[in-house]
Amino acid sequence: MSRLVAADAAGVALAAAALRAGQLVVFPTETVYGLGANALDAQALRAVYAAKGRPADNPLIVHCVDTAACRRLAAAWPQAAQSLADAFWPGPLTLVLPRARPDTDAVAGALATVALRVPAHPVARQILAAAGVPVAAPSANRSGRPSPTRVADARADLGDAVAVYVDGGPTDVGLESTVVSLATAQPTMLRLGGIPLAELERVVGPVAVATRAGTGPAAAPGMKYRHYAPRAPVRVLPAEFPCNWDAGAHAGAAYVVSRESAAVLGLRGEGVRVPGARSDAAAWGRDLYAALRDLDTPGRPVIYVEAIPEDGLGASVMDRVRRAAEGANGPSGPDRQA
Ligand code: TXA
Ligand code: MG
Repeated sequence: MSRLVAADAAGVALAAAALRAGQLVVFPTETVYGLGANALDAQALRAVYAAKGRPADNPLIVHCVDTAACRRLAAAWPQAAQSLADAFWPGPLTLVLPRARPDTDAVAGALATVALRVPAHPVARQILAAAGVPVAAPSANRSGRPSPTRVADARADLGDAVAVYVDGGPTDVGLESTVVSLATAQPTMLRLGGIPLAELERVVGPVAVATRAGTGPAAAPGMKYRHYAPRAPVRVLPAEFPCNWDAGAHAGAAYVVSRESAAVLGLRGEGVRVPGARSDAAAWGRDLYAALRDLDTPGRPVIYVEAIPEDGLGASVMDRVRRAAEGANGPSGPDRQA
């Protein structure tokens, strides 16, 4: 049986003890909830893959209490790593680096690299400090589903596979961390996320962007899989939305739309979610996954999502929206890999 605990001293102690005992713990980070396991414990890591239904070739991010602890797991620590860590840790950035042995053998196996992150959420930091081990933690969803931004979403997906769920309330960023590889000749962004590209470039200069087309550097292994998708199909609304949109012609459809569009069309009620203004990408990031889960009721024919401007965090939001749409509708572009 699993236990749901508050994010107080007793809950943190229980979570840390469970991690040390090789059990799985769901805990809040500032991005999304993580499904944590002791990164040094190969058997616990196998349980993570089983609980998520995650493909074995998709590696996990290791979470450490501070930069020094992360650095011990890297075999090389270029100046760019120090600069990015100084600028963004603790926070929603993951760095991929050549891995140090033997402490990354269990989590990275055949890979030459390891993904490292120092989370900013105070509860995550308390659990990491109390556990005293690095903690591997993918997002706490079943593989392919929207990441959980509330503890109830993680429980709905993972149930009794997890020993302890720590309830830290809704997460702040709502999108996963940005993943940057420093194991490549030039810093390369493998996944968009909580830190926008322009902010990275302000710190380390030009950053290459991995594509799925096979022409540039390869994206993070996980990015080739179906992702972030509710059961109902997701469709991105056309660029001219809300012009020429006849809401009456889409019975039963749900909407994730801006405050402006909701007002123009008079959209409101059970099937309508309004994360914020079109320009408020942070609010969209915070609410997107919860909206997709809440609107995904049985028999829902479609969830329409408005496109927001793709600057800053807006690019990360739209990356997830498109992947959710692709996941539900099958391949949608020439760069689809799997
Ligand atoms: O915000 C986050 O990053 C959340 C919270 C819980 O920290 N975690 C998360 O983990 O999103 P996950 O497992 O859902 O996504 C990890 C991503 C995957 O796309 C994976 O392929 C990539 O990081 N990754 C992990 N290790 C890697 C490596 N050695 N090289 C390249 N990509 C890697
Ligand atoms: Mg994930």
